[in-house]
Amino acid sequence: MKRDLISINDLSRDDIERYLAQAAAIEHVPRREKLDILRGQILLEMFFEPSTRTKLSFEAAMRRLGGDVMGFSDVSTTSVKKGESFLDTIHTVENYADIMVIRHSQEGAARLAAEASRLPVLNAGDGTNQHPTQTLLDMYTIQKFFGRVRDLKICLAGDLRYSRTVYSLLKTLMMFEGNEFLLCSPESLRVPEYLKYDSDGRRQSFVETDDLAAAVRNCDVLYVTRIQKERFADIVEYEKVKNIFELDASMLEGARPHMKVLHPLPRVNEIKPDVDVTPHAGYFEQVGNGMIMRQAVLMHHLGVTL
Ligand code: CP
Repeated sequence: MKRDLISINDLSRDDIERYLAQAAAIEHVPRREKLDILRGQILLEMFFEPSTRTKLSFEAAMRRLGGDVMGFSDVSTTSVKKGESFLDTIHTVENYADIMVIRHSQEGAARLAAEASRLPVLNAGDGTNQHPTQTLLDMYTIQKFFGRVRDLKICLAGDLRYSRTVYSLLKTLMMFEGNEFLLCSPESLRVPEYLKYDSDGRRQSFVETDDLAAAVRNCDVLYVTRIQKERFADIVEYEKVKNIFELDASMLEGARPHMKVLHPLPRVNEIKPDVDVTPHAGYFEQVGNGMIMRQAVLMHHLGVTL
């Protein structure tokens, strides 16, 4: 049976721990020993929405494991432009590859592709819905910084209403005991109520605030997200909140010494460049972990082990 990766909600805690262990194993194997693992396999990348990190890290991951990559990131160069349907596109490209990764602006697009295709499908982000490989790499980053993914105080800050990375990460961190959450956002971008329930249907308790300066001093992980202009139906609403949080180095002076700032990136102005040189900045290491975790994902979903 083919293995898709569409939503964090399809994964158990054991599944998450397996991905983390596999990524750690891959990171420790010398590059020359894993180079041939996916030789002869082709990854098809279908990016209907822009991407830097997800697309290029999947590409780097596949190449570092000896596989090949093909695909598109500009849909206007494909026959979709001539009116070809999404499903016809899927049924065409599946003939050329062994696994596909898809990013799309429509919630559910990756699930639809998975149901239609005989290839394993990896969701690289579908609208405001899910971004499961981002969550896996975020979890791996937290594991590496803290040696655990439980008993942590995590502040999620920024756009908590439209952010697929927040949705996936919050759900996943709730699977691990002892985690406490601070949700820092303007009133209009609060986490939707239904996300406050764990996978057993129990409502978790959260502290909700719009005071970023106070939240910074009171957490182990500060996970900042961009206010996403492209997700707002009303530009006036975006203008009201676009600069609401701007983290700079001076705000980190009262932070816990081990506190790490993470961000899925890209950032706009929510983290100032002077934060980059503080010991709290973890977001560029997080980017690097993306390539490691995506190697683990490709291997697992192609049924290959070290
Ligand atoms: N974090 C993330 O998904 O980045 P990209 O949009 O650049 O892929």
